[in-house]
Amino acid sequence: MERKTPVIAPERLDEQLAICAKIREYWQARGVTPVAYVETYGCQQNEADSERIRGLLADSGYGFAQGPEGADVVVMNTCAIREHANQRVFGNLGALTHTKRRHSGQKIFLCGCMAGQPEVQERVKKSFPHVDGLFSTHHLWQFPEILWRVLTRGKRVFYIEDEPGSIAEGLPVRRDNDLKAWVSIMYGCNNFCSYCIVPYVRGRERSREPGEILAECRDLIARGYKDITLLGQNVNSYGKDLGEKMDFSDLLAEIARIPGDFLVRFMTSHPRDAGVKLFDTMAKYPKIAKQLHLPVQCGNDRVLKAMNRHYDRARYLELVRYAKSVMPELVLTSDIIVGFPGETEEEFEDTLTLIEEVGYDALFTFIYSPRPGTPAAKLPDPATREEKNRWFDRLCQTQNRISEDRHRAYIGKVYRVLLDGMEGNLLTSRTEGGRLVRLEGDSSLIGQFREVEITGATTWSLTGKLVEK
Ligand code: SAH
Ligand code: SF4
Ligand code: F3S
Repeated sequence: MERKTPVIAPERLDEQLAICAKIREYWQARGVTPVAYVETYGCQQNEADSERIRGLLADSGYGFAQGPEGADVVVMNTCAIREHANQRVFGNLGALTHTKRRHSGQKIFLCGCMAGQPEVQERVKKSFPHVDGLFSTHHLWQFPEILWRVLTRGKRVFYIEDEPGSIAEGLPVRRDNDLKAWVSIMYGCNNFCSYCIVPYVRGRERSREPGEILAECRDLIARGYKDITLLGQNVNSYGKDLGEKMDFSDLLAEIARIPGDFLVRFMTSHPRDAGVKLFDTMAKYPKIAKQLHLPVQCGNDRVLKAMNRHYDRARYLELVRYAKSVMPELVLTSDIIVGFPGETEEEFEDTLTLIEEVGYDALFTFIYSPRPGTPAAKLPDPATREEKNRWFDRLCQTQNRISEDRHRAYIGKVYRVLLDGMEGNLLTSRTEGGRLVRLEGDSSLIGQFREVEITGATTWSLTGKLVEK
């Protein structure tokens, strides 16, 4: 089988990198070192994309600012997952009229998932004339060309052609952290959960070649990275579009066999495609973190069906049971949507009993937000906002109690953690399962894996002390 996903030809990427060089010269000729500010909204996919945008900006000679004030380039990398996300961006975009007035050469770009929404494109065209460029996620690799056109032609530029999507390898990356790295293994999504905007704004599912991913991981590990998170909207369907017989579990095992002291984790797993092979692989390799984000969304079969999730409560619970049986230390988290159109209080209560039954370590909880163009947005939605808020509060209270209980069970035990930063005068660290542990210690220890005895716990985090070697 041939690979189905188009890959951007290396010559076309070289053209973009040549434009970066032209932009550098443009600024050198003016005797100016330009600065850029990139603001990221949304999920880790966007964080990873922003690291590529910064890479392209750095190659074009830009330094980086902490905020939009005085910046020559401002990039807003946006999220469209809920209406609130869009509103925040429009609010902050409005405020940029002032920073631009104070620095007339400022060029403002909007990209990311919102840039793929037709109604956003229209609104920016009509009502936000200070936005100089807008490009959807499919056009990220063309950012040098977009920036160049804005700089030299003084016209607004829109790269919004809708397309199924491609893969661009070899873009420069400027990573935010030198211990932990994101590695996108695939882009887009084919699932069309009935509430979700992602497949519309990020296009069809497409996998990177395993060789490219492995080379990136090897390079990161050689450069001292200790924690790699593989990213995809549904990592379990990795490889389906490749001509080779490599699935996600095989890829994970290959990465776990790279020599060096590191952990690899991943998100997000879709319960429809996750299974025994994945969990056995996780259990087998010490370098695969025993952490699983397995979003269930809700605990009621009728609602799960209406969400187009392709699993039911029993199948989900069976998956969890098996995963825990092969990984007793597994840290399990989930996403929940409260108030899907037509959900009743009784149906919502099935979610409460499910989270009790599973005993998640933590939950990411959301109130349903209708997204234009998705099937769920057309469904009748009789529950009131007040009702949904009440359900939401009940869910959070229940989970807080569960999280606190689970965290309390850590006290007195010893865990291996990666010391990853400072917060005031305390060291921060993460357990293999991704739980935050604060402790006393010197910043010179950052970057090491060390044993820590847990001494205290709250709903959200743990405290501990170093076990002396
Ligand atoms: N691909 C991942 C999640 C991507 S979006 C997955 O399938 O699990 C992250 C989370 O946002 C989703 O899991 C869901 O819980 C939430 N979400 C997505 N669309 C939403 C909407 N319209 N309203 C409220 N929450 C939503
Ligand atoms: Fe959205 Fe579903 Fe795809 Fe996740 S799997 S990105 S929730 S459509
Ligand atoms: Fe948001 Fe796009 Fe991620 S919609 S959650 S930034 S994939």
